[in-house]
Formats: sequence, structure tokens, C-alpha cells
Amino acid sequence: MTNNEIQKELKKYRWYHHIKINDEITTNGFKKETSTQKKILSVLDNIDFRGKRVLDIGCRDGLFSFYAEKRGASEIIAIDNNLSKGATEFLIPYFKSKVKMYLKNIYDLKVSDFGEFDIVIFVGTLYHLRYPFYSLKIVKDVLKNEGSIIIETGVYLDENKRAILYCPIDSDSEFDKTSCTFFNAKGLKDSLKSLGIIIEETIILSQKIKFRKIKNVIKFFLRLIFRKKKVFGIKTSHLNKYDQHIREIVGPVTRGIFTGRKNSEITEKYVDNYWDYHHKTHSE
Ligand SMILES: C[S@@+](CC[C@H](N)C(=O)[O-])C[C@H]1O[C@@H](n2cnc3c(N)ncnc32)[C@H](O)[C@@H]1O
Repeated sequence: MTNNEIQKELKKYRWYHHIKINDEITTNGFKKETSTQKKILSVLDNIDFRGKRVLDIGCRDGLFSFYAEKRGASEIIAIDNNLSKGATEFLIPYFKSKVKMYLKNIYDLKVSDFGEFDIVIFVGTLYHLRYPFYSLKIVKDVLKNEGSIIIETGVYLDENKRAILYCPIDSDSEFDKTSCTFFNAKGLKDSLKSLGIIIEETIILSQKIKFRKIKNVIKFFLRLIFRKKKVFGIKTSHLNKYDQHIREIVGPVTRGIFTGRKNSEITEKYVDNYWDYHHKTHSE
């Protein structure tokens, strides 16, 4: 295929990922996501994919699936509840890739579908999920014991004294309307621990300052300039804590990458049975 023919094919699709086709051509993905994607790739660089079965949840155009393939994964299953036509119609055949993409909602994923995996890549998706705990249980079910997990998601920023799930809807969400699930780092790590997954490394990415909340920006600058609690009848923002006023302007959410391993021995049988199966607490 000539470069002109490739370009013509690529124009048929809407791309999310920047995927290199050859030395001159890359898919025209969303610009604002590239720095997070690069960071995820740099974390994946530390993982040995050779001979491993990999699951990519919420795979979109397959950037991370193709990456796993290049790094020597033996089998890559990728699921999404809206499959990328660009990936299935063009990229997979063009690369002669062995990545298998399936239209599947994570909530419908069972071990009996594809078996267990050595590595689960669960990036850019958890914060979109309405039933976050259930999705984590499913991820735990399909991950082999000792298997590795990489989760990248929106993270609620706080002091991490308590395990928190922040669940905004509509315009309260820091991202788009479908982004409704933001654990704080402790909330995600503790929830995973209760399922038998230990997070070994956490990277909290710096906040992207988008000045979305224009009223907070105005309040912030009014306080900065006039140094008063109220200016022109408008309550100004607090300047006493740097973290606090930055959050007032940009919102309380950033992105974070969590890598860890399953160790089913750490789960507590009693709570496990209580949550997921049966228990005999008040019948015996
Ligand atoms: C923000 S994109 C992230 C794509 C890619 N994983 C990344 O990080 O670059 C979220 C993807 O998750 C998919 N998704 C959202 N909810 C899902 C669900 N319940 N089950 C499967 N995929 C889902 C979306 O269709 C979308 O392709």
C-alpha cells in the first residue's frame, strides 16, 4: 500500500489513539490524551510481556494491545463496548496482527469467555464505569494469581486519610458526563486489596490546568487582587492553602497509574463469602 492509499484509508475513521503505521504516518488521535498515553507506555515498558496472555479492557483503537503484541505477548484479547472500526477494519488486517478485539461490556466478561490472563491492562476506563466495585471484581476474577495489573484512571485528590469514592454526575463531573467514578488513591488501593490485588506502584500525574470552572477562576483572582473575602458582592476563594485553591480552580481530579499483582492468599474468606457468595453468620 502506498502512503497516499494508507492516508485515504485512515481518513475514513475517527481516531482516539496515535498509532504509528510507518515512519511517515501515524493515526490522527486526540491530542489532549497523548501525554497520559505516553506515561502509560513508559510504565508498560517495565513489564515483561513475552509469552503472556494479555487482556486490554476498553481498548479503543488498540494502542496498548498492539504494544503488548510488539513486546512479545502470546495472545492479546481486547474488549470494548464500542469497537473501533479503524482498528478492526484497517489496523488489525494491515498489521497482520494477532490482537483479537471483541465487542463486550466489561460487566458481561466471564472467566469462561477467554480464560484467565497473566496481564490485565485496564486504562482510561474505570472512571467511566457506573458500577466500579463490580468491575474490579470482574478484573480480579479474570486475572491469574500472581498476574499483573495496570490501572490508569481519574483520581480524586485529597490527603488519602480515608478510602473515598467520588461519584459526580452531569456537569459536576470534572471530565465528560460519562466520567462518574473517581476513587482517591487510598480508595482504589484498599478496594483492590480487599479483592486480593496489591498495588505495588502508584504514579499520580500532575493536574492539567484547564480553567474549566470559570467562576472559580474569577473568585480566585478577585481574592488575589483585592485580598478581601467578598468583592462586588462575590465571595472570593480561600488563599490560605495552595492545594486547596488550585483545586477550587481546576477541580479535585487528576490521573493516576496503579500497577500491582494478584495474590489471592491475602483475601479474607469470611468477607469474600459475605460479599460474593453465601455466609452463615446468623444461621449457625
Ligand atoms: C477514554 S477511552 C480509553 C481508551 C484506552 N484504554 C486508553 O486509555 O487510551 C475509554 C474506552 O472504554 C470503553 N468503555 C467504556 N465503558 C466500557 C464498558 N463498560 N465496557 C467496555 N468498554 C468500555 C469506551 O468505549 C472507550 O473506548
